[in-house]
Amino acid sequence: MARILGVGIATLDIINEVDNYPPEDSEVRALAQHRRTGGNVVNMLTVLSQFDHQAHFAGVLTEDADGRLIQEKLERQGIDLSHAERLGYGHAPTSYITLNRATGSRSIVHYRDLPEYTVSPFFKIDLAPFDWLHFEGRNCMDTAAMLAWAKKLHPGKPISLEIEKERPFLEQLFPFPDVVFFSRAFAQGRGFSDPEAFLAEVASWVPQAVVVLGWGAEGAYLRDPAADGVCQHIPSRPVASVVDSVGAGDTLIAGVIHARLSAHNWPEAVTFGARLAERKIAQSGFEDLARTEAETEAPLCRLDDLGPADALGVRPIQGIPSIVIVRTDNRIQAFANVCPHNGSPLSRNARRGYLVERNAGRVLRCDVHNAHFDPQSGLCTKGPCAGHPLQPVAIRIAQDRIYLDGDVTAPQIMNGPVSSS
Ligand code: FES
Repeated sequence: MARILGVGIATLDIINEVDNYPPEDSEVRALAQHRRTGGNVVNMLTVLSQFDHQAHFAGVLTEDADGRLIQEKLERQGIDLSHAERLGYGHAPTSYITLNRATGSRSIVHYRDLPEYTVSPFFKIDLAPFDWLHFEGRNCMDTAAMLAWAKKLHPGKPISLEIEKERPFLEQLFPFPDVVFFSRAFAQGRGFSDPEAFLAEVASWVPQAVVVLGWGAEGAYLRDPAADGVCQHIPSRPVASVVDSVGAGDTLIAGVIHARLSAHNWPEAVTFGARLAERKIAQSGFEDLARTEAETEAPLCRLDDLGPADALGVRPIQGIPSIVIVRTDNRIQAFANVCPHNGSPLSRNARRGYLVERNAGRVLRCDVHNAHFDPQSGLCTKGPCAGHPLQPVAIRIAQDRIYLDGDVTAPQIMNGPVSSS
């Protein structure tokens, strides 16, 4: 277990899930709404705390109702707030996120009415006990002073920096970090469509630093000055269905930091981060990301969890948001919980409610556009994907428990496989 200090902002994210992104000047009904903590560093610390690290947040918190909600949630997520600066005025930053279930993409409207975190409270933190320091690339003049201070006092301590978007005086940050995480949006904003060309350019900005560049569905790129500055590509694996891409980049960073703290080399660490990000985008939120591969070998459920005519949604596995296990007429089958119409889960976060009575008997139902599927063959018998099947998942039953039996094949979506973004 390591101690990690993350410096950045904490927000309240209000996420509306829609089945398609609404046109301007229109009204749509959200399929679901979630309120959860956000902010790049907070997302990263949330994931790191799942790996049993001591995750500490340094940033500004408020005492208004949203600010108190953020504090409660962060503490429940295992994040230490003793180094946060608490203000008795201002409103907690909020992000209104529209999440498109069809593609997993998200559009964010952020509101902020709060001073940035500054050097004064940061200088009061005893940095000695921390094993890793991580900074969001924002409020650059103050953050540059924090980076310089940390580097001067603790030259051997790993310091990482995340550059997600353009900020005034960004270059002031570059002399100090050992690791820099750049986003694809930043690289593209600087006119680069080729990640390797971007990394070659970055070598002159941060020659001392290892650079990690997330590139969406293509995976991640790594440039390590100790490896002759050669650019390495870590491809991503196909994800069956992109459920929620909010925080995928933060999860990549958490995975890389965790793997480095666990003594992995840089290619291994970036590969671990990329795998973790794949797991993230295949599920809603950040829960249970640190489960081990051994845990994925655990039984999906017990046989007696299923009634004589029943369908049960079980946990995400191998990039599939969840699996629906169906029992009818003493036959048990499993299908990926991915609708062939547009890749959405048939029902989100649902353990039950898939199997419904209809005139023709029992059917599995997708509640997004009311498609019906035969519970034994998985074939869609009614709805926009009529004639297209759910992807079967091989299972085996042993000692009254149901296990996955082999790899899950990526489901086919009507308009082609859904890829990560
Ligand atoms: S997503 Fe349209 S019917 Fe399932």
